[in-house]
Parts: sequence; structure tokens; C-alpha cells
Amino acid sequence: MKNLKQLRQLLPLTVELKKDRVIIIDQVYLPDRLKFIQLKKYSQAISAIKEFNVRGAQAIGAVGGAGIFLASLVYKGDNSFNFLIYLKKIAKEIIKARPTANNLAWAVNRVLGEIKSNNVFDIKKDIYNSYKKLLEEETNNNLKIGAYGEKLIKNNYRILTHCNAGSLSAIWYGTATAPIYSALIKGKKLSVLIDETRPWLQGARLTAWEMSKSGIDYTVNIDSASGFLMENKMVDMVIVGADRIALNGDTANKIGTFPLALMAKRYNIPFYVAAVKATIDFETKAGKDIRIEQRSGDEVLKHTSYWENRNLIKKQSKKFDSLLNIAPKGAKAFNPVFDVTPADLITGIITEDGILKPSVLSSKLKR
Ligand code: MRU
Repeated sequence: MKNLKQLRQLLPLTVELKKDRVIIIDQVYLPDRLKFIQLKKYSQAISAIKEFNVRGAQAIGAVGGAGIFLASLVYKGDNSFNFLIYLKKIAKEIIKARPTANNLAWAVNRVLGEIKSNNVFDIKKDIYNSYKKLLEEETNNNLKIGAYGEKLIKNNYRILTHCNAGSLSAIWYGTATAPIYSALIKGKKLSVLIDETRPWLQGARLTAWEMSKSGIDYTVNIDSASGFLMENKMVDMVIVGADRIALNGDTANKIGTFPLALMAKRYNIPFYVAAVKATIDFETKAGKDIRIEQRSGDEVLKHTSYWENRNLIKKQSKKFDSLLNIAPKGAKAFNPVFDVTPADLITGIITEDGILKPSVLSSKLKR
């Protein structure tokens, strides 16, 4: 991969607006099959978020915004007051779809916040324009993160990442992957170490897919290998994404990020978070106040293939179900899907406005 244009050919958009519909990559089937879903109704946008067809903070936000756009299209009335009430009700429903990523409520509120007109026809146009602009601006922000972040990367760096904060978690280009793509475009050599990221394997399935698509040297390791890698001087820096960042710089990201940051500190390895400002929660002072999503224990107790084929398997027979168990039947599981990394373990937060020390986040940033 030599330039942006080439990368764009190798890596499709994760969320794309096409006239009266929004096309998204269905992430459930990767890396085996690249399938797309056409969202035509707002209920499909909600279901895509809930069912994990789309995941990752910015991508979830983009699909949330799509929900508002799609809901506006089908509105038949001509009373603008009622139209706004209808949109606000749907906005609440969309925001409830998943709790941790700040970008979801941010995107929904931003699309609604740019309504200027006072008749239904023009309000619909406002929503379309606002949503289109959001997709363009957020992609641009990722490119800016790339431009700032690539300066931190030296030739032959081995970069460890966790989960997928790549193009698939975004509209395109990603956040944690942005510095990586930009460094490669600048002609630097590097390699990427990917934590597989239990239980959904976003690292092994999605980040690895992205790296293979773009021809980047990558290796997948089990989550618990990071200590070994660091002890054996196999990691030069860590870059992860974020789902919600509190004003004091504490950062919620995929479960396993916090222990990774602790280890990086132990070995003096720079630990960076890459995120757009839309991930910063200006209402939340500290990480302890971030709501962490808890998901079904089945995600821990069953093989991942279950999740890809779950509807098929449910329809077929119970026999299959038992074959997919990892633990004894009846085992209990605890499945918080994010953890909070305290600000003091984070070397810097790479944003579209530059690289910030977590401790100065609130003073340096404007909404
Ligand atoms: O549960 P997911 O897959 O939606 O989790 C979110 C994430 O993808 C990660 O936490 C990621 O590292 C940050 S999202 C840019």
C-alpha cells in the first residue's frame, strides 16, 4: 500500500451514504466473507448496532446518525413540531442500543442539532446534509489523527494494538490504525502485533483482516502473550482506540486495555490512545463514572463460530449447541466488555487537534 488512493481500493468504507440508504460492512462474517448490509429503515440501524453487525465507537455513531436520517425519510406528516417530537423519540431509542461508546449519542445529537429549518421538507434536507457532513468530517479527523500519530512512529517499529480500532470500527481509516497507515504512506517500515481480543476476537478477525487487506506485516497473538512480548523487547509502542474518554483522561476501551497499559508502564513502552474528540465525554469527569456494558456470558462460554452462525444453529438443533461449549454446561461467566485505563498510564491521546497529555485534556479541548 503506497498511498491513500490505493488504500481506499483495498479497504472498503465501513459506513457509506448512498442517496436514500446507508451501506455498512457486516462485521459478523469477517474475516471469511465480506458482506454488506443495506440500511433502509431506522430499525435496521438499531438492530445492526445491537446485533454487532457494526461495532467500534465511530462506526456505531455513524450508524446511529444513519438511524435519524433514515427515520426522517419515511416521515409522512407535514407538521414540523410533530416531526421533531418523532425524531427525538427515535433518537432516544437509538442511543439506548449500546451504552459505552460516546460517539453514538454524540452523532445522533449532532445530526439533530444541525436542524435549522422550520418545515418538514427542509428539515429533511438539513438532516441529510448534516449526516453527510458528519461522515466526511469524521473521516477527515481520522486522517488528521494519522498525520499527528505517524510522527511518533520510527522506522521498523513494532506496534501492538488491542481489539479493532481500525477502519472497521470507524467510517474509514480508523483511529488506532490511522498513524499506522499514515506512517506506511510516508514510506516507513513497521509491523503490527494484534491481540486476538477475547471473546469476540475483534483483533484476530477484524484488525488482522484489515492488515491483510492492506498488505501490512502483522502477527496475531493471544491476549495474555503481551507480557511475554514486552519482556522480550518485541514491542516498541502500543496504540489502542477508545470508546469513551472522561475529562480527566481516564479512557474506556475494550476489556484488556487496562492490563496492557499497566504492563507497558512496567516496561517503559509508550502507550497511546487514538480517538476523535467525539469520543470524549464532556459530561463525565472521571473513568469511575463511565457505564461499562455487560454482555451475555455465552460470549465467553461458547466458541466464536457460534456467534457467526448463531441464528442458523438456533434453527437447526440443540445437538450443535453443546458442541460449541468451551466450559462445562452450567458454568457461570462474567463478561464486562470494556475496562477503564487510568489517565496516568496513558502517554498521550492522539486526536484530530493534536497529541494531548491526558492530564490537560479538559483545558486544551473545545467541544
Ligand atoms: O464492543 P466493540 O467491538 O464495539 O468495542 C469497541 C471497540 O471496538 C474497541 O474498544 C476499540 O478498541 C475502540 S473503538 C474505536
